[in-house]
Amino acid sequence: MHYQSAANKVNPRGNSKPVTLWFEEAIDRYTKGNLKAARSLASRAFKKNPDDANVEFLYGLCAEKDGNSTAAIKHYQNAIAIGAESFVYKKQLADLYQRLASFASAEKIYLELKAEQPDNKKMLENMALNWAGMGKHLNSFLLYKEMYDLGILDKKNQPKMAAMLAQVKESELSESLEAALLTTLSFDNVCHILLSQPISRYLTKKFAGLTEFNQKAFESLVLDPLFNAALSRLVLVGVALEKITQKARELILCQALSGQTLSPVYTAFAANIARQAELKEYVLFVGDTEQQLLKQLEDLLAIQALKPAWSPVDSELILLCLSMYTRLSSLKCSDKFSAVVLEKWPNLLQSIVKSTIFDVEDEIALAAKVSSLTPIKDGVSSSVQGQYEESPYPRWASVNHHAPLTPRSFLKAQFPWIEAPESFTNSSIDVLVAGCGTGRQPVEMAMMLPGSRIFAIDLSRRSLAYAKRKAKEFGLKNIEFHHADILNLGELNKTFDLIVSTGVIHHMAEPNAGWAVLRDLLRDDGLLHLALYSAVAREEVRKQREFISKLKLEPSAENIRKYRQAMMDREPNNKLYKYHDFWTMSECRDLLFHVQEHQYTWLGIKQACDTLAMKFRGVQAPAKIMNRFSKQFADNDSKMDLTCWHAFELNNPAAFSGMYSFLCSKAQA
Ligand SMILES: C[S@@+](CC[C@H](N)C(=O)[O-])C[C@H]1O[C@@H](n2cnc3c(N)ncnc32)[C@H](O)[C@@H]1O
Repeated sequence: MHYQSAANKVNPRGNSKPVTLWFEEAIDRYTKGNLKAARSLASRAFKKNPDDANVEFLYGLCAEKDGNSTAAIKHYQNAIAIGAESFVYKKQLADLYQRLASFASAEKIYLELKAEQPDNKKMLENMALNWAGMGKHLNSFLLYKEMYDLGILDKKNQPKMAAMLAQVKESELSESLEAALLTTLSFDNVCHILLSQPISRYLTKKFAGLTEFNQKAFESLVLDPLFNAALSRLVLVGVALEKITQKARELILCQALSGQTLSPVYTAFAANIARQAELKEYVLFVGDTEQQLLKQLEDLLAIQALKPAWSPVDSELILLCLSMYTRLSSLKCSDKFSAVVLEKWPNLLQSIVKSTIFDVEDEIALAAKVSSLTPIKDGVSSSVQGQYEESPYPRWASVNHHAPLTPRSFLKAQFPWIEAPESFTNSSIDVLVAGCGTGRQPVEMAMMLPGSRIFAIDLSRRSLAYAKRKAKEFGLKNIEFHHADILNLGELNKTFDLIVSTGVIHHMAEPNAGWAVLRDLLRDDGLLHLALYSAVAREEVRKQREFISKLKLEPSAENIRKYRQAMMDREPNNKLYKYHDFWTMSECRDLLFHVQEHQYTWLGIKQACDTLAMKFRGVQAPAKIMNRFSKQFADNDSKMDLTCWHAFELNNPAAFSGMYSFLCSKAQA
């Protein structure tokens, strides 16, 4: 019981035993919810000793429990005034200020507390949250790093540290952060997509001077720990960094082929480039000279691999070079690879071999075994399936660590404004993830809702296989994956408390038909979470799609590589480079080369809700968008008015570049 430390510390009359005893008893009552008894003990203690700070503290705790924050603040202040040095009183007051969003008042106290106890974990955690609330993301990020250095940063706080980094302003990204960036990159339980932007922006600044690519410049890259770590762990975004990576790759290839031996730092760097190429799904453009060299290498490898006692160790450098450009499983002698167990491959290549050979084989085998729930009859569904069989989207690696939640607290965390329906008060709910792709969403939900049943379906068997592999990797048992077309899910004879379908129905010939199917799968008080493309935000996507269609470019990997390269040369500042999607093959195909894309406006969503007898239940958007909206529309009812959201978007055309994300439910519910 942490309040006991207050009892032991503050004893103004030096008469410790009786004070501690009454306080312990009162705290015991308070903890059991018997505020009346706790107050009565406090008032008796007060009669004996009106200067007892613990009396004020206890009154404060009871007032806070009663929801009377003003009285609680007053009592805590009185307690502090009497027992001035009490860490516990001050922390309680600071935490209350923080919960009340009185961040500046909380900050002042936290700074004093930190000077007093620089390694108090609970206090530092709340201080970091307080800075996050104030929008001081850099302070919060660095505080987490301090906790990491002190050895008191829990795993559950690592994603919070990453989330802070994601919001640090570009102008604040300086050299002094480099160690903290490296630390964040080393975490396994954070979603690295979050880190792509800030770390790429920092590296772009750092290497801005690398216009002339001489040996010295090249070496500075090879020896840079952060660049190496970033290459191996996240998708680097931005034209400048992509060009640097391409150039470095070409130089490694040329050095390897020149007959010089590559020192271990260079081969390690090549392995990191190979990892980056894989993370980007080989979307990087390959020049003619490199293509010729690669062809020679592939031929040479094919000859070597024919030898009876061939081992990949004999062809390490060739394999390393090729893996910087292509998936090893796509090489013409790849049939020789799977017979060699992973441990027999050179160490440097093992991780890339696992993901580009063994995992791919597993996925192909798994894809064939995914259970079929419905036929795929619709023509557009078949074309869309074709796209995602070739390019499962997205090929994610890591997710944020998620602590288990009850359905009710899960709902509160995602959609704080929603009154939880009755079913969410149970310990378990039925969730449908419709169009789950490669499974990141159902995996995260299964972690957050371990007692619930997650039912995930998709058109693409290869995506489902990827998802199944990842769910197994995370040891999740509460997800089922099935192959099905949403349009035919009516045959399922099953209903759900929550249906999530993000980035899916806008790929149908008639998206509202898919929406209607999902509506019918909802229980009466069920909730439907949809995310749909915005026509306003995607104007530039439309422009590029029209251009691609005029050029009659088929969505082959080669065409995507060429188109991206030409686009980056032609328009080095195109706003689409801000999308993570531009930087990997499957995502870029999804962004620019999709077989079917429909875009909505908020007015279109309003109309669909009316036509489909659905009630709109609110927009999910980042805090900065919600705050901007509230400045334009102060009245709380406006948040449920889609004409207001439409007007807002016209003034803020990039607000929903991520997608419109919202909740709806059956109108009669
Ligand atoms: C852009 S991906 C989004 C994947 C996932 N929801 C996410 O947010 O990462 C679209 C997914 O929807 C699936 N999809 C599209 N139309 C579908 C349909 N009619 N039935 C089932 N899945 C569909 C595709 O196969 C693809 O995996």
